[in-house]
Amino acid sequence: MCGIVGYIGKKNTKQILIDGLKELEYRGYDSAGIALLEGEKLEVYKAVGKIKNLEEKVLCNQICPAKDGTFSLGIGHTRWATHGKPTELNAHPHLGVYSYVVHNGIIENYKELKEELTNAGHNFVSQTDTEVIVHLFEYYFNQSNDAKLSFHQTIERLEGAYSILLITKSMPDSIFFMKHGSPLAIAKGNDDGEIYFASSDAPLIGLAHDVVYLEDGISGIASIDNLEFSDEVKWSILPSSKLFAQKDGFRFFMEKEIYEQKDVVVDTMMGRLKDNAIEFDELPPHILDGINEIKICACGTSFHAGLTASYLFERLTKIRCSVEIASEFRYKEPLLSKDTLFIVISQSGETADTLEALKMAKNGGLKSIAVCNVDNSSMTRVADATVLLRAGIEKGVASTKAFSTQTVVLWMMALYFGKIKGSIDNKKLQDELKTLKAVPNSLKVENSLHEKCRRLSKRYLHGHGFFFIGRDVFYPLALEGALKLKEISYLHAEGYPAGEMKHGPIALADPELFTIALMPQHLHYDKIKSNVEELSARDSTICAISPLPFELSDDFILTKETNHYMLEFFEMLVVLQLFSMEISVRLGNDVDMPRNLAKSVTVE
Ligand code: M6R
Repeated sequence: MCGIVGYIGKKNTKQILIDGLKELEYRGYDSAGIALLEGEKLEVYKAVGKIKNLEEKVLCNQICPAKDGTFSLGIGHTRWATHGKPTELNAHPHLGVYSYVVHNGIIENYKELKEELTNAGHNFVSQTDTEVIVHLFEYYFNQSNDAKLSFHQTIERLEGAYSILLITKSMPDSIFFMKHGSPLAIAKGNDDGEIYFASSDAPLIGLAHDVVYLEDGISGIASIDNLEFSDEVKWSILPSSKLFAQKDGFRFFMEKEIYEQKDVVVDTMMGRLKDNAIEFDELPPHILDGINEIKICACGTSFHAGLTASYLFERLTKIRCSVEIASEFRYKEPLLSKDTLFIVISQSGETADTLEALKMAKNGGLKSIAVCNVDNSSMTRVADATVLLRAGIEKGVASTKAFSTQTVVLWMMALYFGKIKGSIDNKKLQDELKTLKAVPNSLKVENSLHEKCRRLSKRYLHGHGFFFIGRDVFYPLALEGALKLKEISYLHAEGYPAGEMKHGPIALADPELFTIALMPQHLHYDKIKSNVEELSARDSTICAISPLPFELSDDFILTKETNHYMLEFFEMLVVLQLFSMEISVRLGNDVDMPRNLAKSVTVE
């Protein structure tokens, strides 16, 4: 996820910006840059890769070495690529002619704006959506010669989610700012008149005391000793712990990542989910020509997202779809046929088994897509096309937001393919688009729900194991729930298709066998109900998760009433994630770094 810093004051601006960017490294990035301004003097440095590459460039500059501290203001950025590759040209800050901008978020209408500005004679050099902001500002300034008015006119035109800092020679003592969707904090420094900007608390701690976390829609202008906001703001005191700040005040990265799912899926959908259509600019237009089958390959949680998608692909596209665990696929001497579209799913893009499976498909001449969170990772370089998750860096070893964003992306791809194939009509598409827009709400963690999971967790710390059961897409969700629990609690848990219990596993049923039953209202409710009744009759301890009351369960987690099973899916996902995390906490385990596991499995 991109990060922004900014500084106005008398200290060494270069060093402050570099230090600030280092504090934002935990958010994940693939390039970085800073721009500095003092009167007529404007300087910029950009580098791909780690901040130390940028630092080397800044420190090697002999004309203005970092120690001179001559710049009175500057802005900096770490970029997590969304539009365009991680190159120096695409790295922020972006230049117009006499102004620079850094931006976190996505400008949805950048194509229209770019066309308009190109026609007006503006020259674009990057592939980013961000560059339109600075050109739009200069376009207006060239007409009015009024920087404040031009900034206002610029932000009026932007659609999407964004935080922006903009500096310009036309008003060289000021930084313009705007927040809409993506986070931005402004703090008063400990020294007189100093002002700091950052995407999160971490770069501000120790340097400032009072902070404003901007609300959406607030813009303004800052100069030394002067700070103007477009509306009232609330000042608060900065926290004192950096690690606490990096976790946004949550106890664990996993907890933070569960809570931010509702926001990151908005980024996932942005620019792809239009008012009445779905578009994937990153996929070649004729991607389905000659395709009669889809094969998905992945590991772990990503495999579960793939299995979920296989139901959606067949249902919505009427194209045969199979899913394979990458480590199995590699050695089974698979039959590869060129009418198969090969999709790999991976948070990291580096998982050795999935990468090898992708290479095999490539060598076999299959068209391939990587659904991935990390741009420029190995898989994105091998695949013919990449669809990025835009989930931001995932730190917890137990994957959470990668799964929700993978499922959203794959569901959208199923609808996109369904429309191309003509297997869904417009009415169906419009209904599904409406449902997709409601996903963030289903992923929202209600306090009462978290508290319920926390309280229930104390009753599930013993026993001889867990069954997570569900049907249809709730079967892969059951697998995911069981994987989450075993990874961080070290308790034995298995996911099963509910209808399969009677073919063997039910022999284990007794009061010490805990069954977590996923009972959605809108998908085979009566079927799963009978499966759970069979377990209840054998005295298994049952925790039912459903919007419909179920009397035979020992414990019950009530989910919201909705009109679509996928909305139930996402709310139940949050329940399963919180439930596992709270059990792990009670057992005193390391939630973010469970034993024996690594975040990225680059060995087979
Ligand atoms: O980076 P990938 O999505 O390719 O990783 C695949 C698995 O290693 C990963 O999902 C793993 O199962 C997680 N620890 C699950 O929480």
